[in-house]
Amino acid sequence: MDAKVKALIREMTLDEKIGQMFQASDFHFSNDEDLQKAVKDGRVGSFLNIQGAEKVAEIQRIAKEESRLGIPLLFGRDVIHGYRTIFPIPLGMAASWDTALVKKAMRISAVEAASMGINWTFAPMIDITWDPRWGRIAETTGEDPFLTSQFAKAMVEGIQGDLNDPTALAACAKHFVGYGMAEAGRDYNTTYIPEPLLRNVHLKPFKAAQNAGALTFMSAFNDLNGVPTSGNAFTLKTILRDEWNYRGMVVSDWASIEEMIPHGFATGKKHAAEIAVKAGVDMEMATTAYIENLKSLVEEGKISEELINERVANILRVKFKLGLFDKPVENSALSADTILAGSHLEHARVLARNSMVLLKNSNHILPLSKDIGSLAVIGPLADAPHDQMGTWVFDGSEEDSQTPKTTFRNLLGDRMHFASGLEYSRDKSNKGFGAALSAAGRSEAILFFAGEESILSGEANSRGIIDLPGKQSALIRDLKKTGKPLILIVMAGRPLAIQQELKMADAVLYAWHPGTMAGLAIADLVFGNYSPTGKLPVTFVKGAGQIPLYHYRKNTGRPASDSDVIHIDDIPRNSRQLSLGFKSMHLDYGVEPLFPFGYGLSYTKFKYSNLVLSDKALNLNKTISVSADVQNIGNFETDEIVQLYIRDRVGSITRPVKELKGFRKIRLVPGETKTVRFEIAPGELEFFNGEKYVTEPGEFDVWIGPNSAEGLHAQFELR
Ligand code: NOJ
Repeated sequence: MDAKVKALIREMTLDEKIGQMFQASDFHFSNDEDLQKAVKDGRVGSFLNIQGAEKVAEIQRIAKEESRLGIPLLFGRDVIHGYRTIFPIPLGMAASWDTALVKKAMRISAVEAASMGINWTFAPMIDITWDPRWGRIAETTGEDPFLTSQFAKAMVEGIQGDLNDPTALAACAKHFVGYGMAEAGRDYNTTYIPEPLLRNVHLKPFKAAQNAGALTFMSAFNDLNGVPTSGNAFTLKTILRDEWNYRGMVVSDWASIEEMIPHGFATGKKHAAEIAVKAGVDMEMATTAYIENLKSLVEEGKISEELINERVANILRVKFKLGLFDKPVENSALSADTILAGSHLEHARVLARNSMVLLKNSNHILPLSKDIGSLAVIGPLADAPHDQMGTWVFDGSEEDSQTPKTTFRNLLGDRMHFASGLEYSRDKSNKGFGAALSAAGRSEAILFFAGEESILSGEANSRGIIDLPGKQSALIRDLKKTGKPLILIVMAGRPLAIQQELKMADAVLYAWHPGTMAGLAIADLVFGNYSPTGKLPVTFVKGAGQIPLYHYRKNTGRPASDSDVIHIDDIPRNSRQLSLGFKSMHLDYGVEPLFPFGYGLSYTKFKYSNLVLSDKALNLNKTISVSADVQNIGNFETDEIVQLYIRDRVGSITRPVKELKGFRKIRLVPGETKTVRFEIAPGELEFFNGEKYVTEPGEFDVWIGPNSAEGLHAQFELR
């Protein structure tokens, strides 16, 4: 392949090379003829957001048959959690902790997208974030580098499939790197990430994506330690190319090359192009710094043509690997039969069901009996076909959505009493309260569908207050007064601060934005066809003031536990104390989150016992195995997600209090016990200490448990 790439580059003019480095869209051309002429002249290497299978096929035909060298085009689009069949938002998918289900969902998305001529998607997004204010938390797989790395692999494999297949899409690991650490969760904002944190957390999923064969990476928007990531030679060159030897292609995020001007890093477009091309961006998305300036930069001797050749080789390699030179333009994938296929919808239902997390279930109020005499379906998300799909939906259609209202109506007929109560999540009027209370009054139990509209999360859509918006809390309070069992189902793009509502509800099921099949998946769980199995991929905070709070945190020199907490209301008036315990905590929130990472209830109960370590010590060339018995001691057959955490007690730099190192989903019938075994290799204890990667001898804690806050504990030593 390298020989082919080289030979092709030898034939290319400088203009054709620079053309390859431009990703254009419709809006760059005044009409179709203009666009087609640019393709014929070799002035474009890729398009994004060109719509329609036939249009795409025709443009591709022109590139392959009418341009001088017949170089095919990449057609990119954001297919993030489904094309037309919409799966849960990625944060919801992550709550399944099920890489096989997620891989299959991405494969389905690729198959549907390929049928429309798309051959490249800008997914997976594998940024780590510790800030639920950030709207794009919806698009992440949560707060943990290990969990996100597993999903990075699964998603890349699902998207790309077999590269020889017509349904293969190139994946794009984004956003390289650190984008999820935006200050205060304001999108696009500044990030400061010290190198150990960058390497031990933020880079990890990208390495996993590379190992899984991700054909492309996307450089991000953020300023990282003073250098915007689309011009960052340390991350793009030193790490990605020199250290990792990544041979795929790097595309800049939309306009992020030009945005180095407002960042205060480039004097103008030409300077921006020079910085980005030197740092390692191969293709420019949407803006024209490259196409307008690279030629003169070469002519002026500011950059060499060899550098351009290197960039173009990265692009061409992707096109060869995807088989675009050989695949016929009109291939069998270009048929729309696959869109919304029955098996796709069924998988969307399965994944949605697996993504939901049961946070509370007092007195086993859930599941409800299917024979219930009457049921109230209330709330702004009960019949919100667009919003239930979540953020980043270009091609999904609300007409396909199964809402809770339709599903429960179909299942219960006139035993279901519907009143939205609030028209949308931010609705501040209580004029619908009366009807909602009347529906509740006529029913044996209440399902309240709370949450956020999809527009309140996603790109640029960050919030400072992460409570339930509008009058939802007030309506829940009124409904509580009816004395009827109150079940809260939350559909949202982020972990909302639901401390107050949690107290009022008898049960809480966190459903994220579940996608096309929301209603059916929720009904499956509400009526106990299945038990919830999801576990939180993010820590839930009590309120935005607690942010950032995450399980990977450090211990501090003054760690506090719940018993140390003195609540603000309990401080005596005129207290003359100097301090209230000298511990690291909030006087109002205390120390604990609302729910820890990894948390989630089930309709059954699991008992963990018998933690066994194969050895008390391991040396640098030995693995240690750790196992525990997990028993289903309830009466519901279902899955449990068993989690492995470690703590490195003392390091040459301080280490986090909990690091996820493994997880497994096991199925247990009532009474059944399974032994779950994990292997820990010394390499997994490695970390970057500011100077180098080290595996340091010493004491380690290990836990196997149902979440990051509970579990059986043992210790071992690395000698
Ligand atoms: C900007 C977003 O940050 C990125 O994730 C997306 O892929 C591009 N726009 C293209 O739409």
